[in-house]
Amino acid sequence: MRLERTADPCVVLIFGATGDLTRRKLLPALYRLMQQRLVPAEFAILGTARHAMSDEEFRTLMKEAIGEFGSDDVLDESIWQSFAKRLFYLGGDFKDAALYQNIKTKLTAIDGDFDMRGNRIFYLATAPDYFGLVARQLGDAKLAKPAKGAWTRIIVEKPFGHDLESARALNKELARVFEEKQVYRIDHYLGKETVQNLLAFRFANSIFEPLWNRQYIDHVQITNAEALGVEGRGAYYEHAGALRDMIQNHVFQVTSLIAMEPPASLSATSVRDEKAKAMQSVRALPLETVREFAIRGQYGPGIVLGDTVPGYREEPGVNPNSSTETFAALKLYFDNWRWAGVPFYLRSGKRLQKHVTEIAIEFKEVPHRLFTDSDAPLQPNILIIRIQPNEGITLRFGAKLPGQAMRIRPVNMDFRYGSSFGLKPPEAYERLLLDCMFGDSTLYARRDMVERGWEIVAPILEAWKKPAEDFPNYEAGTWGPGAAFELIERDGRKWRKL
Ligand code: BG6
Repeated sequence: MRLERTADPCVVLIFGATGDLTRRKLLPALYRLMQQRLVPAEFAILGTARHAMSDEEFRTLMKEAIGEFGSDDVLDESIWQSFAKRLFYLGGDFKDAALYQNIKTKLTAIDGDFDMRGNRIFYLATAPDYFGLVARQLGDAKLAKPAKGAWTRIIVEKPFGHDLESARALNKELARVFEEKQVYRIDHYLGKETVQNLLAFRFANSIFEPLWNRQYIDHVQITNAEALGVEGRGAYYEHAGALRDMIQNHVFQVTSLIAMEPPASLSATSVRDEKAKAMQSVRALPLETVREFAIRGQYGPGIVLGDTVPGYREEPGVNPNSSTETFAALKLYFDNWRWAGVPFYLRSGKRLQKHVTEIAIEFKEVPHRLFTDSDAPLQPNILIIRIQPNEGITLRFGAKLPGQAMRIRPVNMDFRYGSSFGLKPPEAYERLLLDCMFGDSTLYARRDMVERGWEIVAPILEAWKKPAEDFPNYEAGTWGPGAAFELIERDGRKWRKL
C-alpha cells in the first residue's frame, strides 16, 4: 500500500524545535518514517530554537514527545537508538546572524559524518512572524542555494499570511531568497489519505465523472466540525478565527479537489494548475453581499460529548468581549461550465456536536416522479465522502421496501477504509515530509492558490472587522448559529444531519 521508495539522504533542519508542532507532529512523523525504513541511513535532524540545550537534552525531550504523541504504544528501543544518533540541537536567536553561521558549521559536520550529500530541508515551525526573517537570514548566510548536485527546500507552516496583503508580502520575501520550486507550503489536509483519495475516486473510476457537473448535481456541502475548542491556543486563535484558520486553507483545498477539471497528468504542475483554475472561477463576493453568502458564529458555554465546557470568551488568552468567529459558513458559486448555478455550502466550526469532516454531493431529483403512491417523498441520491473519522465513502440511493406496496426507502452502499484495507492510514505529516524529500510538491499549496484563497475571503474579512453584536450566538455542542441554517434553508435545502 505504501510507496515503496526511499528518500535521498538529507538533513531536516527544524526552526522552532521545542514547539508544540515539532513535538506533536514532526518528530513522531520523522520517527515513523525511519521505523518504516522510508528514510535512508544517511538522514539527520537538526533542531533549533531559542533555548540553550545539549544534543542529549534535546533527544530526551523528543523521546518523550514520540512516546506521548507517536502512533505506537511502545517506543521500539533499537529504532529509537538509531534515530537518536541522528538528532542534533543548536540554540540561538533567529534574529542573530551568528546562529546561521553556527548552523552552517553544524550542517557541514553532519554532512561529513553521515554523507548527506548536501541535501537540506529547512522547516519553518516557528511563530509566523519569523517566517520572513528566517528566510532572509538563510539567504544572507548563503544557505538557501544548494551546493552543486544537491538540493535545498524550505517547508513553510501555516498560517501563510493573515490576509491577502501579508500573504503576498511573505511570498515575495520567500521569492527573494528561494525559487518557487524550493518552497513547500504545507497544508496538512492534503496529506490526509482520504483527501488524496479524492483524486483516485474521481479520476480512477469512469462512473462518477460523467455525473460530476451541473446537470446531475444539485449542490455540494462540505462540513468540517470539531468538538474541541481552542485547546490552550486562545492567544493565536484570537487573531485567526475559523475563516483564516480552516476555511481559507484546508476547506478551500478540499473544495478545489471536488471542483477541479481532470488534470493532464499527476504531476505537481498539472494537478495544481487545475486546482488553481477552479478557484479562479469562484464568484467574487462584493462587500455589500457578504451577509447573504457568509455567516459567522462564536460558541458560548454548553455541553459537548457529555462534558460541560466554557464559552469561547472564557477561554485563556481570549478577550472577554472577543468578536473572533469560531464558526463560519459560506455559500460559493463556481462560475464555469461544469458548475454554473450549483452552490457549494461550506461550514467549519469548533465546539460543535461532534468531530466530523465530510463532503456530501447531493444529486438532483429524478426528472419524472413515478412513485407517486409511495408513503414518503423520494430522497435525493447523495454521495458522502467521509474525510475523518470513520474514513470511507457512502452512496445513498432509493430501494423498494420489502412488502406488497411500492414504498421507497434510502439505503447505503458503503466503503470503509478499515474493513476494505485493514490498514491504519499514515499520518498526514509522514506523507508530506516524505514527498518533500522526494521533491514532489503535488500535495503542497502553490503560491497562486494561497493568494487566491485570501482573495476570495478578503471581502468577508473586511465585513467581519465590524464587531459582531450577537456573539456568542451558538451553544457549545450544537451545530452552530441559526443563521447558518438560514443560509442553506433559504435556498430550499438543508444541512445534512451528522
Ligand atoms: C489546524 C488548525 O490547521 O487544523 C486547528 O489550526 C484545527 O485549529 C486543526 O484544530 C484541525 O486538523 P485535523 O487534522 O484535526 O482536522
